[in-house]
Amino acid sequence: MADVIDGREFGLKVELAVGVVGLGYVGIATAVALAQHGRNVKCYERDPEKARRMRDGNVPIFEPGIEELFGGCVATGSITLCQSLAEVLLDSQVVFVAVGTPPASDGSPDLSYVDQVATEMAGVLQLGQVIVLKSTVPPNTYHRVRLTIEREHTRMQLPPVDFDVAVNPEFLREGQAVKDSLFPERIVVGVDSDRAAVALRDVYAPFDSPIVLMDTVSAMLVKYASNCFLATKISFINEMARICELAGGDVSEVARGMSMDTRIGQQFLRAGLGYGGSCFPKDTVGLLSIGRSLGYEPEVIKAAVSVNARQYVVAIDKLVRLVGQLRGATITVLGLAFKSDTDDTRESVSLKLISGLLEAGAVVRAHDYRTVENARRELAEVAYFADPYEAVVGCDAVVIATEWIDYRGLDWARIKQLMKGNVVVDGRNLLDGSRLVGLGFRYEGIGLLDHNEEESLRSPHD
Ligand code: UDX
Repeated sequence: MADVIDGREFGLKVELAVGVVGLGYVGIATAVALAQHGRNVKCYERDPEKARRMRDGNVPIFEPGIEELFGGCVATGSITLCQSLAEVLLDSQVVFVAVGTPPASDGSPDLSYVDQVATEMAGVLQLGQVIVLKSTVPPNTYHRVRLTIEREHTRMQLPPVDFDVAVNPEFLREGQAVKDSLFPERIVVGVDSDRAAVALRDVYAPFDSPIVLMDTVSAMLVKYASNCFLATKISFINEMARICELAGGDVSEVARGMSMDTRIGQQFLRAGLGYGGSCFPKDTVGLLSIGRSLGYEPEVIKAAVSVNARQYVVAIDKLVRLVGQLRGATITVLGLAFKSDTDDTRESVSLKLISGLLEAGAVVRAHDYRTVENARRELAEVAYFADPYEAVVGCDAVVIATEWIDYRGLDWARIKQLMKGNVVVDGRNLLDGSRLVGLGFRYEGIGLLDHNEEESLRSPHD
């Protein structure tokens, strides 16, 4: 395919209207980014209650800055919330599909929402429209969407329509969705026709980001590969953390030394309790299942998944060692979200840790800055607190489970007084261990040097 294409030869409309179907994290961020870059965006959300609330300016996700931007775009008319898919397709030359693909029981992505949208679109599709898959789906979904639409056309006895299916994976991080979607580091576009390539280049022309054009299968694999690579980086450093503990090293120093090699880089080398969230767990298991369906066992990804699955147990083992019997002990878990700056608890390691503690017979108290209610829906038998100081009252041990930076700034001397015990297991290597030991805590991070020993070795005159 030509790398530089002249759109005029395809007679594209000068001012493209753009459609977005499915208003979850990705759909909302996509709509806002396109609208902020001057596109006229028509959105459709099939959940009528959610759509109604959004029309009133209530964005159903917590994401810094998104509510204001979305509301502003709706007010100025650059985003329109349509009542039907047909309304979106009537005006939009390019339609992004950003519906959910939750993992099915075998780990493969459940494509029923994608299928539904493809089936519904078939009846209202217009000549030359480009359907762009934004959702993370297996590489062959591109063909599946095309076949579904063509089959529906035959079933409804409609004349065949010439349309395109393209792939444009999303790489945004929760908590940074606005920045990541307004200023992406790269825009990966998978197409199988010059017409689709031109249309997507036009849509993204106002963005100051490189557009990487390729075939549809490779484009979708870029998404899986990126997420699995980052997840593997985390599992790798968590494995190094274990080796550091056994050998007497400090994983934060190891990571610091490694990261100065530009081939390795600084990011995603924070050891901790492992990764959670809506992407890494789903996409690692998803790529495993894709590999297996093709007759190949992806060994590296399998190892990344298995290290991660056991990682929260590291905190439980430390508690058992430091507190003794967990049955009847009171443990306060600080942090419920799968990472900081979000209220999302999907696949949160914190909730897995809490379940493990409850199974071991511990009494669990928990705090989060954003997401107590989400966690309560999943785990009712926990005492939840909006104030971290109330959460620690009378507990034997505190575990930091989410990397909320605010935990660093807490008054740890006061916490020491409020607790019954003195154990802190820092599952995100967030706190200053020496300082905590100085305050009288028994402190352990993940793969760090033992500051407790340093303190006990220190002479009384130090
Ligand atoms: C991720 C990808 O970063 C993003 O590009 C993709 O589109 C979706 O998945 P997100 O899930 O929002 O984004 O969170 P991210 O910031 O990547 O963190 C994922 C998990 O890894 C969190 O649980 C976090 O605590 C953990 N993590 C991250 C570590 O344990 N160590 C690290 O060094 C970095």
